[in-house]
Amino acid sequence: MFEQAITTTKIIKADRLTAKDMDKLIFYCGGEQAYPCIIVDNNALLSRDKMLDNLAKMRKVEILDRVFPDPKTGDITAMVDALKGKPVNVVIGIGGGSSMDSAKAVAIVLSNGGDLDDYLGATATRKIEKRDVKLILIPTTAGTGSEVTKVGVYTSHSGRKYTLGNPLMQADIAVLVTDYILGLPPAITASTAFDALSHTLETIWNRNATPLSDRVAVESATYILQWMETAFYSSLSGTSEGRAEMLEGACMAGTAFSMTGTAAVHALSFIFSEEWHVPHGVACAFTLEDVFLLNMKDEKTRQQLIKIANVLYGEDDEDKLITTLFNRIVTLKKKFGLPFTFSDLNIKIDESRIGELFDKSLDDPKMKNNVIEFNSEMVINLIKSKI
Ligand SMILES: NC(=O)c1ccc[n+]([C@@H]2O[C@H](COP(=O)([O-])OP(=O)(O)OC[C@H]3O[C@@H](n4cnc5c(N)ncnc54)[C@H](O)[C@@H]3O)[C@@H](O)[C@H]2O)c1
Ligand SMILES: [Fe+2]
Repeated sequence: MFEQAITTTKIIKADRLTAKDMDKLIFYCGGEQAYPCIIVDNNALLSRDKMLDNLAKMRKVEILDRVFPDPKTGDITAMVDALKGKPVNVVIGIGGGSSMDSAKAVAIVLSNGGDLDDYLGATATRKIEKRDVKLILIPTTAGTGSEVTKVGVYTSHSGRKYTLGNPLMQADIAVLVTDYILGLPPAITASTAFDALSHTLETIWNRNATPLSDRVAVESATYILQWMETAFYSSLSGTSEGRAEMLEGACMAGTAFSMTGTAAVHALSFIFSEEWHVPHGVACAFTLEDVFLLNMKDEKTRQQLIKIANVLYGEDDEDKLITTLFNRIVTLKKKFGLPFTFSDLNIKIDESRIGELFDKSLDDPKMKNNVIEFNSEMVINLIKSKI
């Protein structure tokens, strides 16, 4: 598999995961003395919950379910405190990006001490120096790619959302279990697919892009665009077509943006999640077409997007290919019921506050990755155009 050549995480694909399989994985990682902690959110996921019940009958295991969307540092502290005095040596996250990122943070804080807040932002007082526990990540959404990335996203005690990145945050093993995403509801299928698509495009319109990151991003964007509509209609009809492909596509997208970081769409998305708790994928989808158009001024970006359109829509005039790709993204957003305007998001925004709210995104390292340099006027105009 392409992504295995690039990521240091061992990626395993499985149709389903039994308690016996999980027990073996834990043994391979932690040996005879393996003491696992499994981190999940507290929403029911039948096959995962059954597996965990059976696993608890087979071996000693700590199960923590204090995960909520956009994990907060305080919840990580509570999970670490719950493990005090327990010689946990394998941390496992099973869930969406929030559960996987929580597992990454628990592994890091267990190994390096302090509070997660100490590690965040430009004024961080602690550094990640080691990881004493093994890390296994198992996604149940097809979006974040966190199972193969070296970053986690956390909301600090001050309410700001931060990306924390370090190679020690990368999992030893990622298991892509098709069974876990077969019941993913339409709204989450839609938003997480747009998160994955954004990861591929943000890898392309990125100052850190290299020929290799471009290749992986073009390949994964093409694959995601080929499958995301099928997966969405499967989620509506309760069928399975396209689900496993999206799980793989999101993982590939994770390997892509691991090489570059994300860019303007993600920098802007954090403000929507901080201020109005807009789910991550929805927040990314919100400005995707606007950032697409702005970044078209960069010829190298344009050429990479033409490559995607070329595979999807065949030989054609370059301008037509770009227009077709752009229209396809807009059409998918409409079909998926994703928002284009503040009123679609049910948010009333006071125009006079746009600068104060969105200028923060200009200091975000992700914004600085964007190929076209954003300034305050561009951000304000972009946001105003969405009212
Ligand atoms: N670390 C990274 O590389 C990275 C990349 C992108 C985003 N993120 C972060 O990940 C978080 C978003 O993750 P997410 O979009 O996967 O959502 P999530 O983990 O926040 O979960 C959203 C909802 O989906 C539900 N859910 C998850 N799997 C399900 C399933 N199979 N069936 C039914 N419901 C299910 C959850 O219970 C939850 O209610 C954000 O905090 C975002 O910033 C991290
Ligand atoms: Fe994302």
